Amino acid sequence: MTLEDHVGDIIRKARTAAGVSKEAAAAAAGLSAAQLDELEENGKISGKPDLARLASQIALDGAKLERIARGWLPKETDPGMWRELRQITTMQRLSVNCYLVWDEVTREAALFDTGWDADPIIKLVEENQLQLKHFFLTHSHEDHIAALAPVRERFPKVRLHSNSKNAPPDQRNRANDFIHLGSLRITNRDTPGHAEDGVTYIVGNFPEDAPNAAIVGDCIFAGSIGRGFVSTDLLKQKIREQIFSLPPGTLICPGHGPLTTVKEEMENNPFF
Ligand SMILES: [Fe+2]
Repeated sequence: MTLEDHVGDIIRKARTAAGVSKEAAAAAAGLSAAQLDELEENGKISGKPDLARLASQIALDGAKLERIARGWLPKETDPGMWRELRQITTMQRLSVNCYLVWDEVTREAALFDTGWDADPIIKLVEENQLQLKHFFLTHSHEDHIAALAPVRERFPKVRLHSNSKNAPPDQRNRANDFIHLGSLRITNRDTPGHAEDGVTYIVGNFPEDAPNAAIVGDCIFAGSIGRGFVSTDLLKQKIREQIFSLPPGTLICPGHGPLTTVKEEMENNPFF
């Protein structure tokens, strides 16, 4: 398991969001400009930087940042607990996760994002004799929708859901949508900040009381957050309001990197 963002990625993201220059950040950490560059580039720590002092300058939690630097990873979750939820990871210039969820009795399925490649999705649907009914888009960045055309071609009846203002009205999420997938139910929460149309889907009512799953796109990652293309402050506010208000056991299914939980992120994510 590797985190989507290493300690240097986290520092660069937080530093640029806070508008702190490299020189000022290097001085706070007690590093040379070249050492900070190296840290931000590949996560390599040389010397003994004062991460707590650096963190306080760039709106990160120092103790949590140090924990990441020491190799923190979220506790492994047993994906078999969620029946049925699968993470599909595809790789081109970067690696991206999409998720397939289905009701084990009715075999109705929903796809959340597509990643780069339709083939593993089609294979999973066919192998499990599923009926793909819904496609939920977390946000319209290319890596998340690259395989949408071939998925729609193979499953022309699939119903699209997104927060995109360019989508036809009948494909747009509404605040109180409550979509049933057999006995599973899917709701949505607005989580803009990384993208204007960022939305998180909550899948609930899994068999045997498995916790809900939150499919968050690039809103939050294990130990980090997405880039604030719209606004990092807005993104953090939405994470606090819409994600951290979910029960602590809620499974977080991010668009990049490993699965995590609300509890893990509240305790360990240095952006909070
Ligand atoms: Fe994205």
